[in-house]
Amino acid sequence: MGKRKKLLSMLMLVMAVSMILAACGSDGAKDSSSKDSNKKEKLVAGTEATFAPFESMDDNGKVVGIDVDVLKAIGEETGKEFEVKNIGWEPVFQQVTNGEIDLGASGITITDERKETYDFTEPYYEATQLIVVKKDSKVKSLQDLKDKKIAVQINTTGHIAAQKLQGKTSPKIKAYENQPLAFQEVINGSVDAAIGDNAVVIEYLKNNPDAKLKTVEDDAFEKEYYGFMVKKGNKEVLDVLNEGLKKMKENGKLAKITSQELK
Ligand code: ARG
Repeated sequence: MGKRKKLLSMLMLVMAVSMILAACGSDGAKDSSSKDSNKKEKLVAGTEATFAPFESMDDNGKVVGIDVDVLKAIGEETGKEFEVKNIGWEPVFQQVTNGEIDLGASGITITDERKETYDFTEPYYEATQLIVVKKDSKVKSLQDLKDKKIAVQINTTGHIAAQKLQGKTSPKIKAYENQPLAFQEVINGSVDAAIGDNAVVIEYLKNNPDAKLKTVEDDAFEKEYYGFMVKKGNKEVLDVLNEGLKKMKENGKLAKITSQELK
């Protein structure tokens, strides 16, 4: 073998080995983190960004909202950096499970059922469900929806509330990918009502003043608490989030961002 050829094949060998090493080193969402030691560790959050005021897309295609602001502030308290990706509601759960993302930050209610599969931070927001109907609707309570068509976002606590009322397999419950689609069905008149998280309903009505919608409260809806969600056992990320939240509860930053006092 000539000198040049030998050099070339050695070069190729080095390249092959380093490619293999690089592949071994990658570890899901953590890949982008600590390659550059001067850079802060970056945690990747998944969300479904049609859920203002918690998450929506701005004109530049960036996710903005209360969840983003809370994570940013947690980052300031803990020296971490967060990236928030708009991936869709059900993918949030799937990708936390398979480790593609580090956490779910999507106005996610802490429920006993979800706690079987995931770990949640301490709560950062208190919410409840709210009914949306047309302005001229006679619906006054949750019970009034017993035999009515209800639109919800799929696999949300609003969906569960509708199922509790009508039964799990009720054909009158229409489940959509996101919350605005459910509200749109009320406007179209293809359903009688929608059920959704209160702050999101109120924000939607505020942003759509011509939609001729109103809200109906009912004490039958339980209090809900939002938490950030990690894969069960992911103590490392959970601890960072809880540490940040704890500090923000103490120094008043959380209340400032959420406009809500939470113990
Ligand atoms: N809080 C409700 C739940 O956890 C709805 C959350 C929906 N979030 C969203 N970004 N679309 O089920």
